[in-house]
Amino acid sequence: MSHLFSPLTLGGLTLPNRLQVSPMCQYSAVDGLAQDWHLVHLGGLMLSGAGLVIVEATAVEAAGRITHGCLALETDAQEAALAGLVTRLRALSPARIGIQLGHAGRRGSARSIWDRGRGESLPVAEGAWPTKGPSALPYNDSWATPEALSAEGIEALVAAFAASAKRAVRAGFEVIELHAAHGYLLHQFLSPRTNLRTDAWGGSAENRMRFPLAAAAAMRALIPEGCAFGVRVSSTDWHPEGLTLEDAVDFARALKALGVDYLTMSAGNLVPDAQIPKATPGHQVGFAERVRQETGLPTCAVGMILDAAQAEAILEAEQADMVALARGFLDDPRWGWHAAAALGVDLAYPPQYVRARPNNWTGFARVHPGAAVPDSTRQADRPSGAGWDRPGPAKG
Ligand SMILES: Cc1cc2nc3c(=O)[nH]c(=O)nc-3n(C[C@H](O)[C@H](O)[C@H](O)COP(=O)(O)O)c2cc1C
Repeated sequence: MSHLFSPLTLGGLTLPNRLQVSPMCQYSAVDGLAQDWHLVHLGGLMLSGAGLVIVEATAVEAAGRITHGCLALETDAQEAALAGLVTRLRALSPARIGIQLGHAGRRGSARSIWDRGRGESLPVAEGAWPTKGPSALPYNDSWATPEALSAEGIEALVAAFAASAKRAVRAGFEVIELHAAHGYLLHQFLSPRTNLRTDAWGGSAENRMRFPLAAAAAMRALIPEGCAFGVRVSSTDWHPEGLTLEDAVDFARALKALGVDYLTMSAGNLVPDAQIPKATPGHQVGFAERVRQETGLPTCAVGMILDAAQAEAILEAEQADMVALARGFLDDPRWGWHAAAALGVDLAYPPQYVRARPNNWTGFARVHPGAAVPDSTRQADRPSGAGWDRPGPAKG
């Protein structure tokens, strides 16, 4: 029995397996609205073998977008576009569909990574907008200085996180993930490197956690049983004066007390002078393991998880409960199918593609040497918890 392809229940929601398509910004929205690109991109990933596909970081207000091309979930039109997307995606496969909600804070109003440069602040001529942060401190000299949020501004954003969560549930998402990592607004509040406030929203660790926890609590109250609520956390700032894994554990404990269902343990991107070690395979798995041990919460490991054996080993060793991949799925949108074959799992395919199942296509063993070829001759002979149970065409 494979660990990777066994079901996982989070917050009353059962995922068909423990493989997640990590949220990935596409910078392809128009006015925050999902486009055909999102349908094609995510539709392909619904046919990847992953049990959960999480839609990219989606802003809770227009000013919280990273770029002009980021999704938002603030208006009726944006909700309708995402609801339509979910309906069409759901028709494609049994994978569950989630969304990540966030706010870019001082890293907003940026160029997308393929628009000249590495995502620095937009010039006024390209439609820059004022950004917000805990303190009037830019990311670096080439970034705009954000406006330090007032207490009223923070309260309004807590309400915006809640409103977007409500819209996400209405739009049909079954997993809602709060983005508190990667140097965006909630992470900026958490870290003493970026939060220099002296009021109730800064200073002590308790104060720095206040806004992220208020947002999480407000969202939790609106996410019903049967939907899972997760948080993506930065496990370390990789900076001697920044957050450490101990701080992340404290934050994780506080999130658990609020009823969060799972945590994805990531890191990086808060400050330009972070001393980030070179990423090696599984470089962040230890973070997920530590938080899982300390809190008892299910965790998701992410970062340079590259092949099926590695993913299986992480889960077998109980270092994490789920694994997320990003670039691996861009490289190979059938990563999950190939991982199943490598682990000897007889995964169901959509009927339209059943002719390419390992048991139906002798070419498979040549293209994927070492993969297992199940002895069933038709998909219906081996219905899988992961998928389609309609029989495909007979072997031919
Ligand atoms: C194109 C792209 C877009 C990304 N966008 C997001 C995002 O919207 N939210 C997020 O939390 N992480 C985002 N990430 C980070 C990934 O989710 C993931 O944590 C990271 O790429 C490490 O995993 P990998 O080694 O499997 O790629 C993005 C990564 C890529 C490659």
